[in-house]
Formats: sequence, structure tokens, C-alpha cells
Amino acid sequence: MKVTSYRAPDSGGFAFTPENQAKADGYIARYPEGRQASAVLWLLYLAQDQNGGSIGQDQIDYVASYLEMAPIRVHEVASFFTMINEQPLGRHHIQVCRTTSCWLRGSDAISQACLEEAGVAKLGGTSDDGLFTVSEVECLGACANAPMFQVNDRNYHEDLTPETAKAVIRALREGKAVESGSQSGRVSSEPPREGRRTLLADAG
Ligand code: FES
Repeated sequence: MKVTSYRAPDSGGFAFTPENQAKADGYIARYPEGRQASAVLWLLYLAQDQNGGSIGQDQIDYVASYLEMAPIRVHEVASFFTMINEQPLGRHHIQVCRTTSCWLRGSDAISQACLEEAGVAKLGGTSDDGLFTVSEVECLGACANAPMFQVNDRNYHEDLTPETAKAVIRALREGKAVESGSQSGRVSSEPPREGRRTLLADAG
């Protein structure tokens, strides 16, 4: 008979706040009895949020203990998904999409521009002032507006050029308001404004 054992999780001093505990229990309740491990990504995300944007061994052990999982199983999930950060990040996490549409439209140059402007030595690194972390991630679902990057959890900046990518980073550094969405001025994913042609115009 195969016996699997693992060390007992030790979460140090980390524990969910009562509010996050209620949220965690709500996520777990979405899954059938005995399948609480299915909520692991939700709980990791909660732990990360409570821990200031990244997780360490304490948070992994806490989630493992909460869900009665082996810590290594929780670590496997945490290390697979790029939205879970296993090292501390800068205040602004610039995540440059490098998948097909963005790559074909110049994501390599966008990454390079971000590294230069943010003062980050290499992908995955953080600037000395602690303001920026620059990394590359896979498709963020805004392919029609490639190339693009996401800042922290929510803001998409699309239709980037190296110049507009740098401008966004400069504005973040200076604490100025930054428009999310297309940086070229087009609405949603309509055709580019310059040289726009439509079937109707061509027929006329
Ligand atoms: S390929 Fe970059 S958003 Fe999809």
C-alpha cells in the first residue's frame, strides 16, 4: 500500500482576518463536500492580498492547513499561476503580455522599454526604489489591442508603443492619473484611426 505523508503545515503568525475568513468559507462552500481543495486559488489570492501583494511559506502553509492539503500541492498551484507572487513586488507590477498577438506586435520592445524606464535590471526584477516590478506573462485576453500590459490587479494599458509604455510608467512614478485602455486613442477594438477604411467608404 502506498503511504503519502507530508510535514505538518506551520503558518507562523499568519491567519486570515475575520473578514477574509468569511470570504474563504464562502469560496469553499461553492464546491461539493470533500472537494474544498478546489478553492485553493481563491484562498491563495486572499492570502496574497492580506499579505501586501505576495505570499511566502507562511501563507502557503496556512492555506494548506485551511484546506487540509499537503503544502507542496499548494505550492504547485502558487508557482503555476502568474497572478500569485512568491516574492515581494514593487508598488506597481508591470505585467507585459508576451503571447502571440502581443509578440507579433512588438511586445519584446515594450518589455525593453518598461525595463529601461522603470530602472529594472531584468525581467522579474524590482527597481531599487521599490516602485516597479516588471515581468512578462501569458495572454491577458486583450489580444485585439496588442501589445499591452497590466498594472497590478486591474488596469490594462493597450495599443502600446515603447514611447507610450514609458509615458505610463513615468506618470505612475510621478503619481499622476493614468488613463487605462487604449493608449492610441481608439475606442475599444475599432480599426485604428489613422488610415481607417470601411466597406461603406470603399463602396462610395
Ligand atoms: S496575446 Fe497579448 S493579450 Fe492576448
